[in-house]
Amino acid sequence: MNVNIMNVDYSTKIPNNVNLSEDRQVLKALEGWHPGYMNWWSDMGPEGFQQSLVYLRTAYSVDPRGWAKFDYVKMPDYRWGILLAPQEENRVIPFGQHFGEPAWQEVPGEYRALLRRLVVVQGDTEPASVEQQRHLGKTAPSLYDLRNLFQVNVEEGRHLWAMVYLLQKYFGRDGREEADELLRRRSGDADSPRMLGAFNEATPDWLSFFMFTYFTDRDGKMQLHSLAQSGFDPLSRTCRFMLTEEAHHMFVGETGISRIVQRTCEAMRAAGISDPTDVAKVRALGVIDLPTIQKKLNLHYTLSLDLFGSEVSTNAANAFNSGIKGRYHETQIQDDHRLEHDTYPVLKLVNGEIKRVDEPALTALNMRLRDDYSQDCVKGLLRWNKIISTAGYDFKLSLPNVAFHRQIGEFRDVHATPDGLLIDDATWNKRKSDWLPSTDDGDFIASLMQPVTEVGGYAPWISPPKVGIDNKPGDFEYVKIET
Ligand SMILES: [Fe+2]
Ligand SMILES: [Fe+2]
Repeated sequence: MNVNIMNVDYSTKIPNNVNLSEDRQVLKALEGWHPGYMNWWSDMGPEGFQQSLVYLRTAYSVDPRGWAKFDYVKMPDYRWGILLAPQEENRVIPFGQHFGEPAWQEVPGEYRALLRRLVVVQGDTEPASVEQQRHLGKTAPSLYDLRNLFQVNVEEGRHLWAMVYLLQKYFGRDGREEADELLRRRSGDADSPRMLGAFNEATPDWLSFFMFTYFTDRDGKMQLHSLAQSGFDPLSRTCRFMLTEEAHHMFVGETGISRIVQRTCEAMRAAGISDPTDVAKVRALGVIDLPTIQKKLNLHYTLSLDLFGSEVSTNAANAFNSGIKGRYHETQIQDDHRLEHDTYPVLKLVNGEIKRVDEPALTALNMRLRDDYSQDCVKGLLRWNKIISTAGYDFKLSLPNVAFHRQIGEFRDVHATPDGLLIDDATWNKRKSDWLPSTDDGDFIASLMQPVTEVGGYAPWISPPKVGIDNKPGDFEYVKIET
C-alpha cells in the first residue's frame, strides 16, 4: 500500500489523497468547478450562520483509527477534500460475469454509460439534501443540534466533491458537463428538479430532519455499500470512505428521534397521562405525540423505499452482471456471486392480492437491497420502543407495510393501509390523514420550532443528548453565532 495515501495533501486548493498536484488536468478541471460550487454553497447551503464558527470535524486522513479532527471552522472555509480509501492490493471483482478478474482502474468502455449514470444519480442526492435542509438552522433546538446539522451539510457537500472527482477524472468531457449539471439542478424546482423523488420533498421541521437522516441517509448507506463492491476500483474506494462519514448522519437521526420520544414520554408521565394516543392532551404539554411521530416515520420510510426503484429491474441485473454494483455485504455472502440460476422472493400484486413470488435473483436485486434496508431500519425502532416501554407506555412504533403509500414499483397504483390491507380510493382519501402527516400536524410541529441558541439550552420538545460530540459536554458552545 502506498504510504502517502493515509494522509491528505492540504497544499493544493483542494485537499486530497489522490495525488492531484501531479494530475494537472484533473486539478485544473476541479479548480474550474470550485467557484461554481462556492456559489452554490452560498446560494443553496445553510441559510444564515455562514459567518458563525462551527465546531466541525474535518477528515485529514483515511486511516480508520483516526481520520478526523475537530475545530471551529466557518462553513465556507471548510476544507472539502477528495478522499479515497486505500487501494487494496490485488483486489478482484467480487461478483457478476467478471467475477474473480482484477478490479478495473479505468472505466471499461462497454460500461461507461452505465457507470456514469450511477455516479451522477448518487452525486445528485448529495447537494439535494443540503438544499432540503437549508432553512433548518433558524429553528434549531440547541447549538448541539445546529452543529450536527451543519456537519451533515458540509459532509454532503464533500460527497458531491467525491462524485465530481470521479466524473472529471474518468469521464472526460461528458463528465465535466454532468459535474456542472449537478450544480444546476435544485431540490423541488419545477423546471429542473433533483433526479429522485425523496430529494425533492420538503424537510420543513426538525422531526423531518431526524427522520430524513435516519431513513433517507440509510438508503444512501445501502447504495454506497453496493457501489463499494464495484469492480470499478476508484468508485469502490470513494464509497468506502464516504461510508465512514455517513454513519454519523444516521446517528444524528437515530438519537434525534430517541431524544424526542424520551422527552414526550417524560412529559406524559409528569402530567399523569396514561393514554399516549390522547393527542390533544399530549400536545397541550408542548411535546410531539407518539402517533404524529409514527405518521412522520410512515412518510419518510415510504419515500425512502421508493429510492430503491422497481422490485423487478433489468437495469439492476445489468449493473450486477457487469460488475458495477454489487449486493449489500457481497463479499460476505456464501454463494456463486453470479446468481444466474437463483431466485429471490418478491412481493407482488397478483389478482388484487399481495403475494410473494419467486423471481430470477438477478432481476430482483433492488428488492433484495430494499429488504436489507428494511432490516437495518428495524434496529432504531427497537431502541425507540424500548424508551416508550421503559416509561410504562403500551405503544409501539412500527414500519408500515411496503405496499403502503408507494409511488414507485409494484404498489404504485394501489392504496393500502399501513398493515398492508388493500383499500379503495374513497377509503384512502378518508383515512390518509390518520397515517400520514396532515397540514394540522405540520402546523402543530411548526409551532414548536422555536430556536434555542443559548449555550447548554434545549427546546422543551427534545431531551438533551446523553453525550456530546468529540467528548464535549452538552453545554459546550458548539456554534459561536455571529451577532
Ligand atoms: Fe452523502
Ligand atoms: Fe448522508
